[in-house]
Amino acid sequence: MALIGPSGSGKSTLLNILGLLDRPTAGELYVAGRATGGLRESERTQLRGSTIGFVFQAHFLLSAFTAAENVMMPLLLQRGRTDAAMRATARALLTQVGLTRWQDSPVGNLSGGQQQRVAIARALALAPPLVLADEPTGNLDTHTADAVFEQMRGINRDAGTTFLMVTHNLAMAQRCDRTVELVDGRIQGTHG
Ligand SMILES: Nc1ncnc2c1ncn2[C@@H]1O[C@H](COP(=O)(O)OP(=O)(O)OP(=O)(O)O)[C@@H](O)[C@H]1O
Ligand SMILES: [Mg+2]
Repeated sequence: MALIGPSGSGKSTLLNILGLLDRPTAGELYVAGRATGGLRESERTQLRGSTIGFVFQAHFLLSAFTAAENVMMPLLLQRGRTDAAMRATARALLTQVGLTRWQDSPVGNLSGGQQQRVAIARALALAPPLVLADEPTGNLDTHTADAVFEQMRGINRDAGTTFLMVTHNLAMAQRCDRTVELVDGRIQGTHG
């Protein structure tokens, strides 16, 4: 699903609320059928961890660490996995986004598009049903943006992962199954 709308219309705010990073001043947010307003912070963290992956434009990768190590980070925060199992998961995810060859490279050495794909792989580490992406291809050239978008499209098709993606690229929005448009903090229209 694409989320479009002018600058300042509330797209990032909506993503932050949907991702349980921010709380709405009014109204109730349901995640997977569950009301979230009354949840404690620890319960919100738990629900977020099991349900939602994040890809931000500033992707917060650790540049001195390898691609595989970055993808493993969310797994390290959960207990009970062996190092070998985490590495195998990271390798499989990096293969999914076409970065098998680069798994042992420090991410600081990778191109912008490659780094964005590492961020996508990391968002998928805990196999969330939903990935929230704030302009994931915003600062990429059109060719690279297209490749990153196709990667998300393919994962959606193959694994059923839902991507909710903020974009200013209307051609890309048209290639999503659904588009929601925000204007002045309100949903103006939906397509699909
Ligand atoms: N923490 C905050 N407190 C109060 N107002 C905020 C806060 N963060 C953002 N805003 C305001 O809320 C509105 C929506 O901001 P938001 O960042 O969600 O827009 P956006 O649609 O993501 O824009 P852009 O396309 O430029 O990224 C803006 O008017 C912004 O100034
Ligand atoms: Mg924004």
